[in-house]
Amino acid sequence: MPRYKDELIEQIRSANDIVDVIGSVVKLKKKGANYFGLCPFHNEKTGSFSVSPDKQMYYCFGCGAGGNVISFVMEYENYSFPEAVKYLADKSGIALPEAEESEEEKREASMKETVMECLKSAAVYYYKRLYSEEGKLGLAYLHKRGLTDETIKKFGLGYSGKGFDQAVSYLRSKGFKDKIIQEAGLCNISEKHGMTDRFFNRVMFPIMDINSRVIGFGGRVMGDGEPKYLNSPETIVFDKSHNMYGLNVARRSRKPYRIVCEGYMDVISMHQAGFTETVASLGTAFTPGHAALLRRYTKDIRLAYDSDGAGQKAAMRSIAICREAGLNAKVIHMDPHKDPDEFIKALGADAFEKRIEEAENSFYFEIDHIRKGYDMNDPESRTSFQSETASRLAMIDDELLRDNYITGAASRFAIKEDLLRRAVNIAMEKAEAYPKKPAYFAEDDRDSRKPGNKGGREDAGKDPKTLSEDRAERYLLTWMVSEKAIYDASKDYLKPEDYTEGLNRMLAVSIYKGYESGELKIADIMTDFAKTDMASEAASVINMKLDAVESKADREKALTDLVIKIKKMALARSRENGGDADPLKAAREEKKAMESLKKIKISIQ
Ligand code: UTP
Ligand code: MN
Repeated sequence: MPRYKDELIEQIRSANDIVDVIGSVVKLKKKGANYFGLCPFHNEKTGSFSVSPDKQMYYCFGCGAGGNVISFVMEYENYSFPEAVKYLADKSGIALPEAEESEEEKREASMKETVMECLKSAAVYYYKRLYSEEGKLGLAYLHKRGLTDETIKKFGLGYSGKGFDQAVSYLRSKGFKDKIIQEAGLCNISEKHGMTDRFFNRVMFPIMDINSRVIGFGGRVMGDGEPKYLNSPETIVFDKSHNMYGLNVARRSRKPYRIVCEGYMDVISMHQAGFTETVASLGTAFTPGHAALLRRYTKDIRLAYDSDGAGQKAAMRSIAICREAGLNAKVIHMDPHKDPDEFIKALGADAFEKRIEEAENSFYFEIDHIRKGYDMNDPESRTSFQSETASRLAMIDDELLRDNYITGAASRFAIKEDLLRRAVNIAMEKAEAYPKKPAYFAEDDRDSRKPGNKGGREDAGKDPKTLSEDRAERYLLTWMVSEKAIYDASKDYLKPEDYTEGLNRMLAVSIYKGYESGELKIADIMTDFAKTDMASEAASVINMKLDAVESKADREKALTDLVIKIKKMALARSRENGGDADPLKAAREEKKAMESLKKIKISIQ
């Protein structure tokens, strides 16, 4: 990855006015100091998407997407940070220095490029083959499976010939060196036969990255044969756990959720039926890498897995992975059919749409699945099932949510509600005895994109004392960004190190640095966050609406409360991290610090 100097990035950022860049893809209307439009990152009918020419930032009050012009390009075009910088540099005619790339980086970049060219040539070859005399069998197979020529073209499906080294010779004739064909994963090598085609006599599914560049293939035997699908090996351009089949199209879908299914054919049938929000993993199980990838587009996943035992087990695993990643998963039921492909062929798109609407809550799905392992007619077995249900319920942190699930589970699984509630309480007491909380139902309260969370606005007007730790820090950071006087008044009491590690501290460091240098340029601070995938979260802090506190006395009181609260938390943290060196001394010092905290009285100039 080429590294550019900060000054150069600043220059590129400021050469690209955010209103122009966003305005070229989103229709913007001026309202007051800002521009508004329909958010390109979520489905909406009202314009919650704002662009600030002063701050050179965008922020969506609906979904929480936000950042500067670089993060916009990253999110909209799905570029990495350097790709977005390069795109904006080209757009504004700024030359990027080549020299900052090392020799090795350059070699690898050009190798990647050549390998991708080779893969693209191969895809063209397989596609042409499909429509040649020799490909008749393959084409008939795909037609028989209900695919139209339009779909075949859209997905670039193809056919690998029956020959021995037809693809290899074709690629050689196009000027690709053996080394490249090898790196592309398109051949087998043996002493006896030399370089031969990896894929033959299969219908070919090119696998594309999010920018629709071919990075590998899946090849299916026509009829029975082993293996059913042969996939490309992992190569320098093909990383199975960070790509998904169909995502190049699905990423543009305006649906608020994405559907994940198991197979290539499922994705294609789904897209053909109009469900272009569908993706699948690539010949492997769903991994945390896939969850992280999807998280860039949605928090809402619908699993459309095979209805057989293997599919249901895979769904259980995927639910857990989604939950870990802060994604909300639901399960689409396919019965009485095997998979989405067969379902759609048998019952059509409308019936599938209904199944999407009826998708089952993942918690009930899990309990249902667990129930299948017990004999409900045997009292002992039934009791074990009920205790397991109770301990799962006990892992739900949110009290209201837990209570709702207790009621729901009681009626759904025919357990007496008060009994279940008691069992859950016992399970919770037991769980408390364990030091580590299971990752199950991991909380994700910092998430600005959770549906219903209006990007931090809910803090407006709250008494600082009642804000949660994290919120208190963010509240003060927001306030500091909007008024330098707040920074001046509090900087002697609070240092960036007093903020919680992670986003809050990073923001504090940047804000302090900005003010110290004489000018706080928010858009440039956002560049640091664009590099870390936290742009939206940082933007939500900066765009949090604070209620105007009117009188000087009230402002000073609010600021004092915030500073004390944050300082207290910092002290508590350093106690926790301090270890057992001299607990008595530490306690004395902490007490002293607490005492002096009480005396703080901040004045704002
Ligand atoms: P399935 O066996 O469910 O295939 O495997 P499918 O997609 O429904 O295909 P059809 O309808 O029989 O043609 C699901 C996915 O698992 C991977 C592939 O990605 C496939 O799409 N797989 C399966 C392999 O990689 N290799 C195999 O041998 C089988
Ligand atoms: Mn299938």
